[in-house]
Amino acid sequence: MNRQHILNCSFSSWYANFVEHTIESEVIKLPQSFVNYLLEDGIYLPLSKDEIAEQNIQDVGSSKVRPSFPDLQAKVERAINQLGGEVFPKLNWSAPRDASWIACGNSLKCHTFNDIILLLKSSNFISHDLTEPFTLCDETEQAGQVQYELVLRRWTEIPPSMEFRVFVGNQEVIAISQRDCSSFFPCVPPLVDDITYEINNFHDRYVAGLFKEQHYVLDVFRKDKAEFLIVDFNPFNEVTDSSLFTWTELYRMRDGDEECDLRCIKEEAGVQPSPYLAYSMPSDFLDLRSGTDANKLVDFLKMEVQRQDDSVDDDER
Ligand SMILES: Nc1ncnc2c1ncn2[C@@H]1O[C@H](COP(=O)(O)OP(=O)(O)OP(=O)(O)O)[C@@H](O)[C@H]1O
Ligand SMILES: [Mg+2]
Repeated sequence: MNRQHILNCSFSSWYANFVEHTIESEVIKLPQSFVNYLLEDGIYLPLSKDEIAEQNIQDVGSSKVRPSFPDLQAKVERAINQLGGEVFPKLNWSAPRDASWIACGNSLKCHTFNDIILLLKSSNFISHDLTEPFTLCDETEQAGQVQYELVLRRWTEIPPSMEFRVFVGNQEVIAISQRDCSSFFPCVPPLVDDITYEINNFHDRYVAGLFKEQHYVLDVFRKDKAEFLIVDFNPFNEVTDSSLFTWTELYRMRDGDEECDLRCIKEEAGVQPSPYLAYSMPSDFLDLRSGTDANKLVDFLKMEVQRQDDSVDDDER
C-alpha cells in the first residue's frame, strides 16, 4: 500500500467531488500549534477568546500557561453556526468515536469549540490520525508532513440499521455489509435484494470513476428507499474494519469474479461483540483503578472544573 492511497481517502481529497451526495461539511485547516496541543499529555482546555479579551489569565497552581487559539475558535464557531448549531467532528480520517463516553449524552454531537476539543483530546483514534496515519505503508514512505484539518459535519440522525459498508474493487461493488455488526436489525434481512440493487446503482451512477482510487471502502446511509448519502471513504486494506467479511475474503473477491454479496445479521444469536466495548470503560479510568497513573484523574478533574467554570462564565455573560 502506498501513502497516496491513504491521502486520497482523507476527507478534503474527496468531499468536493461528492458534495451533492454527502453530508454538508466545513473543513478548517489546523495550525501546527493546535496539533501539538492535541498531542500533549493531559487534558486542559485552551483559554477562550473571551477570557483572553478580559484578561491574560494564567493557569493558577500550574506551571503551564493555558494555550489559546482565538482565530481557530472563531472559525469553528462560524462553521458551527453555518451548519445549524450542531456538528459531528472528525480529523482527516477519523472521528473520536472512542471518546463519546466523555461527552454529555454519550454522543459526538457538539455545540461549542470546547465540546469538540474535549472529544479530540480524549480520543485514541484521533491520536492515531496524528501520529501514525500511514501505518501499513512502506517504511520508505512514512515521512512527510500532513496538513491536518478539522472537519465539521452537519449533525444528521443516522439510524444504525440503515448504514452499510460497501467494498469496491476495480471500481465495482464486490461486497456490502451492515455497518454496525453488534446489532440485529429485523428490518434489514427482508430488504437484502433491494438494498444490494440500490447500492450498486447508486455507486455506478454517482461514485464510480469519480473517486481517485480503483479499490476503496465506501460507507453509505440509506436515507430513504433508493436514496443514499455518502458517509465516508476508507482505504481498501486492513486499516479499515472489514465488518461481516474478512480481508482474506475481500481480497479474493476483488481478484476473482464473484457476484456481489450483501451480509447482514439474520437473527439475534448472530450478533458480534461491539468493537467499541474496549472503549466503554475509559482506559484512563482502568489505569486509575490499577493505580498506574493517578495523574490522569487529576488532569480529568481539573479539566471538568475548568469546563464548568467556562460554562458558568458563558451563562453569566
Ligand atoms: N454528520 C453526522 N451526524 C451524526 N452522526 C454521524 C455523522 N457522520 C457520521 N456519523 C456517525 O458516526 C459514524 C462514524 O463516522 P465516520 O465513518 O465518519 O467515522 P470514521 O472514524 O471514519 O469511522 P471508521 O473508522 O469506521 O471508518 C458513522 O457511522 C455514523 O453513524
Ligand atoms: Mg472512516
